[in-house]
Amino acid sequence: MSSKRSVDELALLGGSGLFERPRSTSNLLQPDFERFLAYSRVFFDHHQFTNNGPNVRLLEKRLAQFHGTAHCVTFCSGFWALAVAISALAREGKSEIVMPSLTYRRMNDIAAWVKLKPRFCEVDPATLAMTPATVEPCLNEQTAIILAVHPIVNCCDVEGLVALARQNNVPLLFDSVESVHESIAAGKVGGFGDAEGFSLHACKLMNGFGGGYITTNDASLARELALRRGFGFEEVDLITVPGGLNAKLNEVHAAMALASLDGVEAQVGRNRERYDAYRAGLAAVAGIRLLEFDENHRTGYKNIVVELLDDWPLPRADTLAVLNAENILARAYYPQPLHRKPMDYPHIPADLPVTDALAQRFVNLPCGHLVSVDDIARIVETLAFIHRHAGAIAQRLRAIAAEAQ
Ligand SMILES: Cc1ncc(COP(=O)(O)O)c(C=O)c1O
Repeated sequence: MSSKRSVDELALLGGSGLFERPRSTSNLLQPDFERFLAYSRVFFDHHQFTNNGPNVRLLEKRLAQFHGTAHCVTFCSGFWALAVAISALAREGKSEIVMPSLTYRRMNDIAAWVKLKPRFCEVDPATLAMTPATVEPCLNEQTAIILAVHPIVNCCDVEGLVALARQNNVPLLFDSVESVHESIAAGKVGGFGDAEGFSLHACKLMNGFGGGYITTNDASLARELALRRGFGFEEVDLITVPGGLNAKLNEVHAAMALASLDGVEAQVGRNRERYDAYRAGLAAVAGIRLLEFDENHRTGYKNIVVELLDDWPLPRADTLAVLNAENILARAYYPQPLHRKPMDYPHIPADLPVTDALAQRFVNLPCGHLVSVDDIARIVETLAFIHRHAGAIAQRLRAIAAEAQ
């Protein structure tokens, strides 16, 4: 269906949806199929499907080159990549991990698996990123490690966090899952802190069907991570590293990730066209602000995040309900920060007013491989329609709610 002419045509109010197939915030990259098959042929011909096969070795070499690091160690997921790296890096006998609360919704589970208590820090309202100033008050005698998570648009103050960690002699791991293609003044993301963690989930920039990896310049850390992900076996029947588990990446996932990596620059070019289309379109919609990428450095232009400003005329939940009914699967940006989640494992209660306020304001808009520039024009048009007709929409939603009671 083409754009809406009246409030009655909104799918939430009985009209038909704007898109037949959902437009989501997941990247869902489909790399070149022939390349994927060519890499898959390699492991078939080698008769090796897992356990550090040819594609995994090639992928680790190529990812290390891509990030400019000495080492890369792949894992079955970003989650286990981070968990294993944290347990290898954390200071022995210490009990706390410092992390933001306005972040990936399962980050507290990672802390639970490695038996550390999350101490949640604030973020900067302008960048949505944790900063040296928000982390410093969280450091204490019990700090085992800092997990510095980049926000989904632009990066943290990497150099500031590195300096703070060094001054306090605390290990620093970056979660760079949303910053694969980013650079800062000091260089490419991947080589900062003790190590950096990434995901190869299908919703991320690099699709390996699922998977993750750690980059580092520390050879002994890389060796330890590689041992831990494979049960801790150094040789047949010789386990030399404690805490081993099966967290290996298999060959078919590595084949997909390699094909994704081959096409990454082309993908970033397409992401940029999508971002430019949003930027041009949203400039004409009042009450909404696009978070802009820092184009002074290299960026992947992947995620589209907007702030609903004070003069946006419809509550966020209603705005999302209208969009979702049209098959525009926009999502609230970390609507339940981690310190607000019910947790049945040890954590440190936190009072984070900035995070609480920010958690109400932002929205992720559809992006990625399956969203065209034409789709973006229709999404922006729908937002402009919501802005123009917010009063009538709110009235109709109130009437529906009253009827349901
Ligand atoms: C910031 C962040 N860190 C870690 C992860 C975990 O990655 P994976 O899904 O590969 O386990 C995610 C997943 O969405 C994430 O967004």
